[in-house]
Amino acid sequence: MGKLIVRRIYAVWNWLIAAAVVAQVFLAGLYVFGVTSIEAHAINGSFLLLATLLGAVFALAARVPGRVAGSSWALFGLVVLQVALIEVGNSTGIPLIKAFHVVNALAIFGVSALLASWSRAFFAAPKRADARA
Ligand code: HEM
Repeated sequence: MGKLIVRRIYAVWNWLIAAAVVAQVFLAGLYVFGVTSIEAHAINGSFLLLATLLGAVFALAARVPGRVAGSSWALFGLVVLQVALIEVGNSTGIPLIKAFHVVNALAIFGVSALLASWSRAFFAAPKRADARA
């Protein structure tokens, strides 16, 4: 597969991740306001774990600039941390730890939006994409 095609798949994937992050916050809202259980949020969270890992692998396959690939790996790391904050908070019985789950969501949103924005360059000619991303 050509480098441009792989980069375009990576770009679309980054937009999918950014949309899933926004949906994740909405699903948290449904739970907080008593509309649903937390199950849909937990399921979409598992999807995000897998999706951000795949995104980081795609970044390597697409041979995007180091700053972009590094951000994809950082996003995966933030999602791992997001799950860990809940797990550690529950196992230690310290809810303060879980409060950082909401703060970390801001970082996840920021990096996913940045990656989606940078990805637009991969729909341009490859040389231009290298220069801009
Ligand atoms: C945007 C990125 C987010 C991701 C990837 C994410 C992911 C997850 C995952 C995977 C779980 C299940 C953890 C487990 O059961 O082990 C979870 C639980 C939860 N999340 Fe999120 N979350 C995000 C944002 C938020 C936000 C903004 C809120 C705001 C209220 C929130 C509130 C919760 C709550 C209340 C739980 C249940 C905690 C518990 O079981 O004690 N999450 N989240």
